[in-house]
Amino acid sequence: MPEPEETRAQWPSIGNRFRFYLLFFLLLPILCTMKTPAQTPRKALILTAFGTSIPEAWATYESIEKRFAEAFPDYDIRWAFTAAFVRKKWRSQGRHIDSPASALARLADEGYQEVSMQSLHVIGGHEYHDLIKTVRALEGLPKGLQRIHLGRPLLASDEDYRELARILTRYSLNHRQPEEAWLMMGHGTGHGANISYAGLQLYLQEEDPLMLLGTLEAFPDLERAIRILSDKGCKTVWVMPLLTVAGDHVVRDMAGSESDSWKSRLEAEGYTVKIHPLPLGAIPEIVDRWIKKAKTAEASAP
Ligand code: CO
Repeated sequence: MPEPEETRAQWPSIGNRFRFYLLFFLLLPILCTMKTPAQTPRKALILTAFGTSIPEAWATYESIEKRFAEAFPDYDIRWAFTAAFVRKKWRSQGRHIDSPASALARLADEGYQEVSMQSLHVIGGHEYHDLIKTVRALEGLPKGLQRIHLGRPLLASDEDYRELARILTRYSLNHRQPEEAWLMMGHGTGHGANISYAGLQLYLQEEDPLMLLGTLEAFPDLERAIRILSDKGCKTVWVMPLLTVAGDHVVRDMAGSESDSWKSRLEAEGYTVKIHPLPLGAIPEIVDRWIKKAKTAEASAP
């Protein structure tokens, strides 16, 4: 018995079906690039560091970026350096690096509505406070970024100090003998946040009296560390940077062969000095602290 006419008519003939597929494939590239207003807005995360002029230190930034990319799979990750002289130096060598303001403006031009910015600084000093001002100035501009979630630096809360002291002490014991001292070299600043270093020293010594901290430019300094080493009767001291990456300060001021480097000054005092040049950004557990801050900043937004 032949099929009723209307049943067959529901199915296109081979020729019709071919034409349908041909049209579909011809239109496919156009369909793929079509954007609808309902599309989820793209998100971006700007990793913001002081910057370094030492090319080798880039490897640490790259490993930080890799870990952030794993934690923020749906985000475009960008960089900004807060130090103008570092950006200028790279520019003279043909490499453009954004300032925080230019990185934010660029994302606004690209159509982003909401971005995260994570400070990779250690303390909340001048660099971080400048970031707060930049974010306030650029948030909510017409046709610009509606939300900028700024994540705080490594040392911002009581929990941060406790955790960092615990991580560093445990880390040091993977390298030193328990009777050897471990001295962290921080930067130091004229900003009021310099107290962060004295604070961290207290937390470190709660963990282990041989965990010391000094700064290059402020209090506590190397002389104080040397006095404590002498009081404790230590013979061997390890020195490690309390810096995000191992740039110029590590190569020259910490481990350099000049007489005013920390290594030379400690050796002149009779100590056996062991240099541990890995910076904070090379320790995954510490990078995870910054990642946590970026997530907290995003979650705490209204
Ligand atoms: Co400096």
